[in-house]
Amino acid sequence: MLTKNENERFTQIGPGTPAGALLRRYWQPACIASELTEEHPKKRVRILGEDVVVFRLPAEPGEDRLRYGCLAEHCAHRGTSLYYGFLEQDGLRCAYHGWKYAPDGRCLEQPFESSPAFKERICQVAYPVEKLGGLLFVYMGPPDKRPLLPRWDVLVREDGERYIEQHPVLDCNWLQPMENTVDPAHLFWLHGHTMRLRGSHAGDIYHRPVKGFYWDVCEWGIMKLEVYDEGHVALDVMPPLVFPNILRICQHIDEAIHFRLPIDDSHTQIFCVILKPAAQKIPQPEDPPVVKLVHKDEEGEFLLDTFPSQDAMAWETQGAVANRPGEHLGSSDRGIILFRKMLSEQIDLVEQGGDPLGLVWDPAQNECISFDDETEWARWERRARETHRQDVLDILQAGISFRQGYVATVGARR
Ligand code: FES
Ligand SMILES: [Fe+2]
Repeated sequence: MLTKNENERFTQIGPGTPAGALLRRYWQPACIASELTEEHPKKRVRILGEDVVVFRLPAEPGEDRLRYGCLAEHCAHRGTSLYYGFLEQDGLRCAYHGWKYAPDGRCLEQPFESSPAFKERICQVAYPVEKLGGLLFVYMGPPDKRPLLPRWDVLVREDGERYIEQHPVLDCNWLQPMENTVDPAHLFWLHGHTMRLRGSHAGDIYHRPVKGFYWDVCEWGIMKLEVYDEGHVALDVMPPLVFPNILRICQHIDEAIHFRLPIDDSHTQIFCVILKPAAQKIPQPEDPPVVKLVHKDEEGEFLLDTFPSQDAMAWETQGAVANRPGEHLGSSDRGIILFRKMLSEQIDLVEQGGDPLGLVWDPAQNECISFDDETEWARWERRARETHRQDVLDILQAGISFRQGYVATVGARR
C-alpha cells in the first residue's frame, strides 16, 4: 500500500507536480493526425492537465509536408480560446483582437498596439509537434532537455498493415492502466475466465494453470514472464512495460503499442497502434485507418465483450484515483511494487536534475526500436538465475532460454 501523500505524488500530473515533471520529459501522443483535416484543422486537447490547441498549418507553396503546431489554448492577451482563431500561413490569429502567434509561440502581430516592442515581450506557451505512425506527438518538457521522438518498431516498420485503435476516454488516473501492465495475474480471471463464460475462446491462452510470475528491470522499463504449469512448464514472455506510460505487447499475431496519455488527474486517453505483420514490405498510407472502440452500452454498463472493455471495467471501477492507502498487496503484485519503486526513483532523479529512464538521444539508435535483443535476453536470464526463483529455474532446467521462450510465444501466435 501507499500513503495518501505517496499516492498523490504518483497520480497528480499537472504543471509543477513531481510526476508531471517526469512525464513531461517524454513525448506524449496528443491526437490522431488524421483528425486534423482541411475542414477541421484545429483540435482542443487536454494533456497532462494543460489545455492546448493542436493545429495544422497550410502547406508552404511548393511543399507537400504539413506543418503542425501546439499552443496553449488561452490567448496571452486576455484569455480567449485560440481554438476559434484564424489559421494563416505562418501562424494562428486569435479571433478576439487579432494577436497572431507563430507555432513556436512568438507573437507576430498585435494589430491595435502602437509600440512594436510590446509583442517582443509576449510569448504564448508552445510545444513542438512531430508526426509518427499516424499520431501527433508533443513534447512539453524543458526545451533544452528535449530527447528524440522514439521510433518504436510498431510505428515505423513497413512490413505490415498498420491501424490505430482509439479507446473511449477512461474516467480514471493514468497509473491504473500502467499498474495493470505489470499485473499478469489479472489475465486468468478478467480475460480468460470472462471470455470463457461468454462462450469465446479468445482468452484461452490465459486460462491455464499458472506456476508463477517473474519481473525484472530492463533497459526500457520492466520485462515480465508468466510461467504456466500444465504437466510441463510453459513460458509466456510479454514485451516490456516501456517506462513510464507505454505498454508494448503482442496481441495474438499482431504487434501493438499502447500509449496511455494522462489527460488530467482523473482521465486517461489510450491510443493503440497495431501492426499486422506481413511477409514483406508493403506500401504505407500517409495515415493509418482508425478504429474507435466502445466499452459501454447505452445504460453505461461495461460490455465486457473485448479485452479493452474488460480492462476498462477493472480500471474505472477502482475509482477516479485508486485508493492505494486502502489496498492489500500480495505476492502476485510484486510487479506493481517494482513499478512504483521505479517510478519513485525516476521522479527523484528528475527532481535532482537528472535524465530519467529510456530517453532516446542517439539518432543511430533511433532507426527502429524493437525489443528482441539477444544480449538483453541473456542479461535478464542471468539475473533470473541469480534470484534463484524456483519457477524460473524450472524453465531454465527444461532447457528453454528466455529468448527461445519469446520466439516460441510470438511464433505460436502467428
Ligand atoms: S484575447 Fe486574444 S487577442 Fe485579445
Ligand atoms: Fe488486461
